[in-house]
Amino acid sequence: MTLADIKKTQEEALSQIASASTQAEVEQLRIKYIGAKNGLVQAMMKNLKDIPAAEKPEAGKALNALRAAVTEAIETAKSKTGESNSASRSPFDFSLPGNWTVPGTVHPISQVIEEVSRIFSSLGFTVADGPDIETEFNNFDALNTAKHHPSRDERDTFWLDDGRLLRTQTSTVQIREMLSHKPPVRIINPGRCYRRDTIDATHGANFHQIEGLYVDTKPVSLADLKSTLAYFAREMMGPSVKVRFRPHFFPFTEPSVEADFSCHLCHGKGCRVCKQSGWIEILGAGIVDTRVYKNVGYDEDCYGYAFGMGVERIAMIKHGITDLRLLYANDLRFLQQFV
Ligand code: PHE
Repeated sequence: MTLADIKKTQEEALSQIASASTQAEVEQLRIKYIGAKNGLVQAMMKNLKDIPAAEKPEAGKALNALRAAVTEAIETAKSKTGESNSASRSPFDFSLPGNWTVPGTVHPISQVIEEVSRIFSSLGFTVADGPDIETEFNNFDALNTAKHHPSRDERDTFWLDDGRLLRTQTSTVQIREMLSHKPPVRIINPGRCYRRDTIDATHGANFHQIEGLYVDTKPVSLADLKSTLAYFAREMMGPSVKVRFRPHFFPFTEPSVEADFSCHLCHGKGCRVCKQSGWIEILGAGIVDTRVYKNVGYDEDCYGYAFGMGVERIAMIKHGITDLRLLYANDLRFLQQFV
């Protein structure tokens, strides 16, 4: 090994390092030249002992200079390739903002359906389901609706060409349930209904109902219905809510009632939501008409009650929503409020 060898090695090393374009190449050159175990500079240091004594100090200096130059060149090359190749070095750039996924929220209509289902499940009701397209029998005839009843009219109901229709109420599921099960029957049935209503702030051509039916072979009274609905009202709206019944008419229940809940916002004092009356109309209900039992092939000495409510209406009352169309506009600014 001569001084010239050392110089040549330095030139080669520096030019190789300068043309290295990736961190991996630079690292390979670092190991090749100044690696602690098998690096070239290390090997040359060992060879110093074979050099004639007169040249030793000069060669030692040159080797130290070589090591220093290579070390510096490696550092420079590392930071250069590190910067320009940051993307290819790692799939992640931890300095960039992350992909933020906003968690979804359950739609207020689904929230009401889930809540009502939970409350009635705790009383032993099971959730039943049925199709949106129904027969005239299930939607009207079996429910004791008179042939001339205005709800059958084309202006109220969406009829299909084959004589079937888009169900106007979820009472159809109660008929299906009674046709396929003997009493006792204890179900609630949430679902979508359709009516030819002109769409405005409180009406939609399709909307949701939840109905309930309890039929047994032992007596079931209006008092049972009232206590069940009072329990439901307290669970749904809060412990101080009261329930009142008003006489009403439905073809499939006799006697029939409409049930009002005391306003959960003003506690009966009168406000915008209860239109100053202190009461909010929530549902229709009654004792199942014996003619319905006959229509589904039940013994006429069955006893039972049925009730039904509008889901949109409950969501609107609960949250103080004044326009039903907001529930269908799919505007995230609106929907994200219902966490
Ligand atoms: N189906 C009735 C309606 O749509 C509501 C109701 C259900 C009333 C059950 C009484 C009993 O208006």
